[in-house]
Amino acid sequence: MTDKKFDVLVVGELNADLILFGIDQPPELGKEILASRMTLTMGSSSAIFAVNLAALGARVAFAGRLGDDPFGRLVLESLQRGEVDTSDIIVDSSTPTGVTSILGWGGDRAMITFKGAMDDLKGTDVTDDMLDQAHHLHVSSFYLQDGLRPGCATLFSRAHQAGLTTSFDTQWDPAETWEGVLDVLEHTDIFLPNESEVLAISNAPDLDSAMDALHREGMTLAVKIGNRGARVRSAQGEEFKAAPLDVKIVDAVGAGDTFDAGFVLARLRGLGDERALTFANAVAAYSVTSAGGTAALANREGTRRWLEQHGLSGELING
Ligand SMILES: Nc1ncnc2c1ncn2[C@@H]1O[C@H](COP(=O)(O)OP(=O)(O)O)[C@@H](O)[C@H]1O
Ligand SMILES: [Mg+2]
Repeated sequence: MTDKKFDVLVVGELNADLILFGIDQPPELGKEILASRMTLTMGSSSAIFAVNLAALGARVAFAGRLGDDPFGRLVLESLQRGEVDTSDIIVDSSTPTGVTSILGWGGDRAMITFKGAMDDLKGTDVTDDMLDQAHHLHVSSFYLQDGLRPGCATLFSRAHQAGLTTSFDTQWDPAETWEGVLDVLEHTDIFLPNESEVLAISNAPDLDSAMDALHREGMTLAVKIGNRGARVRSAQGEEFKAAPLDVKIVDAVGAGDTFDAGFVLARLRGLGDERALTFANAVAAYSVTSAGGTAALANREGTRRWLEQHGLSGELING
């Protein structure tokens, strides 16, 4: 994987996250509740994926859009600190950077997002040159990106024609229409939804039938099931399960994106789906031991120790 400049091109949304945690109960209209801690940090599924993938040793480029404002600068600097290449990020003063307000309690969270500049990114912002420089394309947060969504299947098809492999994590559809997803899946090599998403997209009564409905030969379907671990159906149709690791949860922000990063990294390093699942499940569990989506993996020695404590080789992340 050295003939091209990047292992992975991430095309996606960017925003800041304001996380309030240590909350005893959900908020109620007309009342005020207290949080005991807060973090203002880079957010967005795609950025957390990119930074964690780089922390695991991959060479990562990001294509996205930001406003010319303090939240935009916070995101840009965080990506750069995370060793993600930001040359393909467009900074445009006409639309503010997006922001997500996150309330976290009991290991889960509620979120409100102002999308801002993330809606302006289009598939055509991704040039053939950008595709040619990478081995793999990843897109997340399909339903948060109104500009990207209509051209996403075409972008994936262009990526395949240019010889890249592809991965896709829809994330939740706030409108719950789940429109357009099947077109993108036709050109997806690794599909990375969580359990609720797979059930909603397939409209199936249980996870087994949902996986039957959405899997097709040639596509790996990896389903995240939170504190119950994860499952995968390989490109050849084999089933593997990963039990959840025992963790002390600080917050679950970014666990799914970290799982995606682990899975994609493992596959890029040549592992099969069963070992990629074990690896992804382990790094995702590690990610919930720190606040925010990227703090845990920023400590590479800590990640290596965690992997080794759980019977996995730290060698995969030697870069
Ligand atoms: N409490 C937990 N204990 C162990 N592993 C966890 C826990 N929460 C999440 N994980 C790991 O992180 C993965 C992704 O988390 P999940 O919450 O399912 O993703 P998403 O954020 O996409 O909903 C899970 O499949 C699992 O591997
Ligand atoms: Mg998710």
